[in-house]
Amino acid sequence: MKQLVFLGAPGSGKGTQAKYLVEKLGYNHVSTGDLLRGEIKKGTELGQRVDKVLKAGELVKDELVLELLKANCDLTTGAYIFDGFPRNGDQTKLLDEAILGEVDHTAIYFSMPTETLVDRLTSRRTCKDCNSVYNVKFLPPKVEGVCDNCGGTNLYQRDDDKEDVIRNRMQVYKDAIDPVLEHYKSQDKLYEIDASKPIDQVQEALIKYLG
Ligand code: AP5
Repeated sequence: MKQLVFLGAPGSGKGTQAKYLVEKLGYNHVSTGDLLRGEIKKGTELGQRVDKVLKAGELVKDELVLELLKANCDLTTGAYIFDGFPRNGDQTKLLDEAILGEVDHTAIYFSMPTETLVDRLTSRRTCKDCNSVYNVKFLPPKVEGVCDNCGGTNLYQRDDDKEDVIRNRMQVYKDAIDPVLEHYKSQDKLYEIDASKPIDQVQEALIKYLG
């Protein structure tokens, strides 16, 4: 299996589809957003600084995210899905130079109009205990307020899923993503998927592509 790089706006479904491919095809999943939220949970001084950046919807420094990523993936153990990295041209180079090297990889671009994403993100809920992701409109848990995966009862709204922060995250995304897409396109390694379709149809398209 090839290493996969997931690209797309906040809320385009990268995390949802990554979890599906982990179960269905046995990929490893590494999400820089989850790693950063893990640092915040530890309550360290670093975590407090990271918290401020996430709450503003800005990007954490490239080097810090790269260090976290390097510490949490080992390509000798199998194929990974890189979710949330790279987000700008510099991170694209860092991923190539510090992690992927000559290893075969492809980028999957979750493409959709960003205007519709605010609705998805304001209705997202995340389990505090196991990080499973739900949506009160599009993917509710079987029992309201209870995590299907671990039975936890604390399904919360992320601090950065408030409307004003979401709008800033969208702008930050738009300002930085073009060189990333260009990079993979120029290497003929970019596969675009219509992420505006319902979850099961996006899953089907991915499985068809990945064979
Ligand atoms: P991160 O956690 O990576 O957030 P993001 O990229 O903004 O992506 P999201 O997690 O919001 O969306 P997603 O595409 O995974 O969508 P999901 O599947 O959950 O990053 C958070 C922050 O950390 C950043 O803002 C930044 O500050 C920092 N950071 C992270 N990486 C960094 C980096 N490399 N450099 C610097 N800073 C970094 O789906 C969303 C919702 O929609 C869910 O409720 C889901 O159930 C639902 N849904 C999914 N698919 C569909 C569908 N097809 N139809 C209907 N609903 C759907």
